[in-house]
Amino acid sequence: MRKLFGTIALFSLIFFLAACGGDGNNEDNNANDSNNASDASGEEGVVEIFSWWTGAGEEEGLLALIDLFNEEYPEIEIENAAVAGGAGTNAKAVLTTRMEGDNPPSTFQVHGGEELNQSWVVAGKMEPLNDLYEENDWMDKFPEDLIELVSHEGDIYSVPVNIHRGNVVFYNMEIFEEHNIEVPTTIDEFLDVAETLQDAGVTPLALGDKEAWTATQILENVLAAELGVDGYQELFDQKIGFDDERVVSAVEKFSKILDYVNDDHASRNWQDASQLVAEGEAAMTNMGDWAKGYLSNDLELETNVDFGYFPFPGTEGSFAVITDTFGLPKGVDNPEQVKTFLTFLGSPEAQDVFNPLKGSIPARVDADMDKYDEYGTDTMEDFQSDDLFPSLAHGSAASEGFLTKANQAVNIFVTQRDVENLISALEDAADDM
Ligand code: GAL
Repeated sequence: MRKLFGTIALFSLIFFLAACGGDGNNEDNNANDSNNASDASGEEGVVEIFSWWTGAGEEEGLLALIDLFNEEYPEIEIENAAVAGGAGTNAKAVLTTRMEGDNPPSTFQVHGGEELNQSWVVAGKMEPLNDLYEENDWMDKFPEDLIELVSHEGDIYSVPVNIHRGNVVFYNMEIFEEHNIEVPTTIDEFLDVAETLQDAGVTPLALGDKEAWTATQILENVLAAELGVDGYQELFDQKIGFDDERVVSAVEKFSKILDYVNDDHASRNWQDASQLVAEGEAAMTNMGDWAKGYLSNDLELETNVDFGYFPFPGTEGSFAVITDTFGLPKGVDNPEQVKTFLTFLGSPEAQDVFNPLKGSIPARVDADMDKYDEYGTDTMEDFQSDDLFPSLAHGSAASEGFLTKANQAVNIFVTQRDVENLISALEDAADDM
C-alpha cells in the first residue's frame, strides 16, 4: 500500500512562522539578502527564485539549473534569491514576511504536502497550475502520489523538481570493514553495532543539530520503524495520539540512539556531520540524500567505495518522501515568465541536470538513468516498490506550526532526554496540526 498522505486534517490558517521560525543561527544568512531583494517579481524580464540552496551540497544543482535556463531563455533574467540555512531554517521566516507583505518572490522552494497546502494554498496565496500540467502533458510524467502531494481540492499548485529520500543512513565503508560490521536492519541491531564501534573508539553516529531539524529527522525515522508506514500516517492523521505506546517506545529508542552521537553535535550543521563520516571520524549519519550530493560532488567520494548507504534500521521497504517544488504565487507581475521557468523545471533536461548534483532522483518518471550512479538507480527502484511516507522534518506530514513546536521540543529532548516531556510537548503541538 503506497498511499502517501491520506487525509491530513486542515486546521488554522494562522501561520506565525515569522514570529517563531528559525533557530537564531543567522550568521551565514548572507546569500542574496532577500529581505531587500525586494521587487524582482515586479520587474519585467526578471524571475526571482527563492530557495535555501546555498553553499556546499546545496548550491551546485541550482546553479546548473540556472545556467541551463539562461542558455535556453536568454531573454529572461534569473535572480537567485537564496537564504542560507538547512531545511529552510531561515528562508521560511523570510518567505512568510514577504508573502504576508504582498511581496512574493516570483517562485519559491516549497515542500509538497502540508507546507505547500496549509501554509500557502489554503491561505489563497497560490495560483493553480492545472493548465501548465495539461499543456505539457505532465499528468502521466509525474508519479500520481507526487501530483497528489502538490494538489488541493482537485487543483495542482506546484511543480516538483526532485524526490529526496529521508530514511537513509550513509556510512564509511572502511570503518565497517575494519570493525567487521554488518549493515544493521533493525534498531536493536543498530544499537549493538553502535556499542561495538563506541568500544573501539569510533563515534558511531554523526549528528549536526545546530539546526534542530536534523534530530527531528532521526525521530521521524524511528517513528516509521516503530509504527510502520500505516501507523505513522495514522499518527499524523490524528487517528492515534502521541501518547500511543508505540510512540513512547519510539521516543525511548530515539534516546538510546542519541547516546551514540558525537559530543559536538550542537555546534555542527548537516554538512559538518557528514564530513565526520567522510573523514573516518564517525561511522554513520542519518541524513536526507542531499548528503549524497555533498559526499559525491563536494567531497568527491565514490559511491559504494568510500561510502555506502542503507535504509534507516527498521524502515526497509519504506521511503521517506521529501519533494522540493516550485509554484506561482498570486500577485507576481510577470506570471507568464514564471510559467516559462516552471515549464523548464518540469522538463526532463532540467531534472536530469539538477538531480545528479543534488543527490535526489528526478520527480519525472522518464529520467535518463545513465545520468545517475548506483545510488540514484537504487533509489529510483526503491521509490517504485517501497511504501511511501511523508517527512515531518521536511514539511510534508504536518503543518509548519506543528513542525516548529516539534523541532523546539526535540531540541530540548536531545539534552534533557525526558521522554514524558517530549510526548506531552508533541501532544500539545498536535493542536496546531
Ligand atoms: C530539505 C530540502 C532539500 C535540502 C535540505 C537541506 O528541506 O528539501 O532539498 O535542501 O533541506 O537543506
